[in-house]
Amino acid sequence: MTIDASHESSAFGFEGQTYYEHRRLRLYDAVVVHASNRLLWRCPKSRLLDHYNDWITSHHLEVGPGSGYYLDHCRFPTDKPELTLLDLNPDPLKFVAHRLRRYNPRCVQADILEPLPDLVGSGFTSIAYNYVMHCLPEPPGGKQIVFKHLREALAPDGVLFGSTVLSQGVKHTPLSRRFNILYQRQGSFHNQHDSVHGLHRALEEHFASHWIEVRGSVALFAARASETTASRLRRASGPR
Ligand SMILES: C[S@@+](CC[C@H](N)C(=O)[O-])C[C@H]1O[C@@H](n2cnc3c(N)ncnc32)[C@H](O)[C@@H]1O
Repeated sequence: MTIDASHESSAFGFEGQTYYEHRRLRLYDAVVVHASNRLLWRCPKSRLLDHYNDWITSHHLEVGPGSGYYLDHCRFPTDKPELTLLDLNPDPLKFVAHRLRRYNPRCVQADILEPLPDLVGSGFTSIAYNYVMHCLPEPPGGKQIVFKHLREALAPDGVLFGSTVLSQGVKHTPLSRRFNILYQRQGSFHNQHDSVHGLHRALEEHFASHWIEVRGSVALFAARASETTASRLRRASGPR
């Protein structure tokens, strides 16, 4: 497996990245995907998997694949999707490229806080940005810059989708609040200022149409770049 590396990964090595070392990724499904989603954030993996099944296409960019659980279990519309994995850290790229070797994914090491390098490619008909936003440290201009970078890689009729744990505008239990603060102190979460309102504003700034669903402490979202396909977003995203 080869990893195409960008020279612009300036933030590589920020605190929190040790969570994605190879040996820890083996535990990621059990701890994060199964347990934390249900017990802490109260957005079960089945809801997140439905979210992938609703939006994923056959020309897909996965940002921050982690352990690759959702890509491994979701239904692509074709047997041979064109799949690109993008991460700041080479460990998740290697782990997920092996897990998804049946799809022969392309791997790019790059920082989404920077403009995406040309080698990522463009014209993706879907991009997933799932459980990455709450990990990102706030750059001076704000982390909404990521939506600008991802919008540029999207096909005119493409969809961006994902989810994130927020601190404001969502429901926290005493336990989830405690863990949210603990992860912030440890440096694995940087979502102190992340709110539903801020997410609406950021998506509105960069996309023609968007949709947000709050489930427990998590906001799920999907957004379309062009007005002509925006109505499809509204039809497909009825309440569950
Ligand atoms: C919490 S994991 C999310 C894993 C997976 N998407 C999921 O939903 O379970 C965060 C992922 O984002 C990656 N990541 C963090 N900061 C990044 C950045 N600035 N640029 C690209 N990837 C980043 C991490 O290496 C890790 O793979």
